[in-house]
Amino acid sequence: MVSLVLTSPFVVAQEYEKRSPPRKLTTAQAKVAEANYKKYCVLCHGEDRQGHVNDHAPSLRSQSLFESGVPHAILRPLSFGREGTPMGGYLDEVGGPMTLDEVWNLTYWLFEKSGAERVRLSTKPVYGDIKQGEKIYQKECADCHGKSGEGVTGPALGNQSALAHNTDEFIRYAIRHGRQDTPMPAFEDKLSSADIDNVTAFLRSRGKNWEMKKNILKALPTPEQYVINPDGKSPNFELSDGLYVSSHDLNKALVAKNKMVLLDTRVTSVWQTAHIEGAVPLPYYADLEATVKDIPKDVQIVAYCSCPRAAADSVIKQLRGLGYKKTATLYEGIFGWMNMGYPVMHGDVLD
Ligand code: HEC
Ligand code: HEC
Repeated sequence: MVSLVLTSPFVVAQEYEKRSPPRKLTTAQAKVAEANYKKYCVLCHGEDRQGHVNDHAPSLRSQSLFESGVPHAILRPLSFGREGTPMGGYLDEVGGPMTLDEVWNLTYWLFEKSGAERVRLSTKPVYGDIKQGEKIYQKECADCHGKSGEGVTGPALGNQSALAHNTDEFIRYAIRHGRQDTPMPAFEDKLSSADIDNVTAFLRSRGKNWEMKKNILKALPTPEQYVINPDGKSPNFELSDGLYVSSHDLNKALVAKNKMVLLDTRVTSVWQTAHIEGAVPLPYYADLEATVKDIPKDVQIVAYCSCPRAAADSVIKQLRGLGYKKTATLYEGIFGWMNMGYPVMHGDVLD
């Protein structure tokens, strides 16, 4: 979408109309949704939906998010994820663990828990001076969101999947009102209405019509394929803090064709998109005892995620509890690994 420069000095502060609440869940649906939240989301978004537990995952209870974002600004990231961030897609259609009904119900459950009232936002574009918006962005926003919108302590505002899913008004509402009980300040008293529009237009101008890629789901590896290089030697890792192996050492072991098990502990949809060759999906929410019985205890196991370590650490700790001693977490995570130029396998993804 192209944002135009609006020259009129009369920018009227937006009045928002309240809307009736969306679909109400039955007790049974709410129970399932709560259980799904615990199983899949607590790791990063926290027990109480407070956010910022791991990876600066945003709050899932701030009023402004639920006022302006239900259902789509919740349903879409939850279903399809935000490519290139630790937020993976949970919908079965893209290789995730939840059905469409389940993601809808979890969306409404989060809304009910937030206690927010929905507001009606226009879907029309927000116009502004993109150049001026960029100046404001670099001055007021870049410390937390990154110079290029890559995300630091705040979410990646330049992320193509976020820009594709979030409307102009959704973005403007967040800037105006901030996100309650999080580091995101409300700018309505700090910036003029025109400058809020300018920075919104600047952010929008970064969108490149990202489209959800269609995953052709790859068959998941079977237990016989868990051990890679079964005839190779065992690697001899020196672990930092008794837990971490570096990307450098893991790569060396893979090149030397060492015998190992590599576990990708992220939500399965992102394994489908890219993973380290030979890695099998064992997501952080899997029933470990049922899954690992096929893995011999004497083989070196390395787990990784993009968190960069939270999900992998949680799996490794459980494995150690089950008697798996030769276990380690990849220190830099898979994004660190990729940034250092080490290879990944892409799933069968169509462009
Ligand atoms: C591995 C950590 C992790 C897990 C597990 C996770 N998320 Fe996220 N989530 C994130 C991060 C990080 C972001 C922000 C990404 C970005 O920079 O845009 C995010 C963003 C979101 C957003 C967008 C919020 C906003 O303010 O725009 C929603 C909604 C969301 N997650 C819901 C969920 C739900 C529901 C679950 C469980 C099914 C879940 N997430 C599991 C890390 C995670
Ligand atoms: C002190 C750090 C900080 C500053 C400064 C800051 N933000 Fe944020 N921002 C955050 C955090 C953290 C979040 C996520 C809050 C949460 O948990 O929901 C966020 C969320 C957002 C969101 C919502 C994203 C989504 O997908 O829900 C938008 C839009 C946003 N910020 C825009 C801006 C803009 C534009 C500026 C500058 C005018 C700015 N922010 C300044 C930290 C900051």
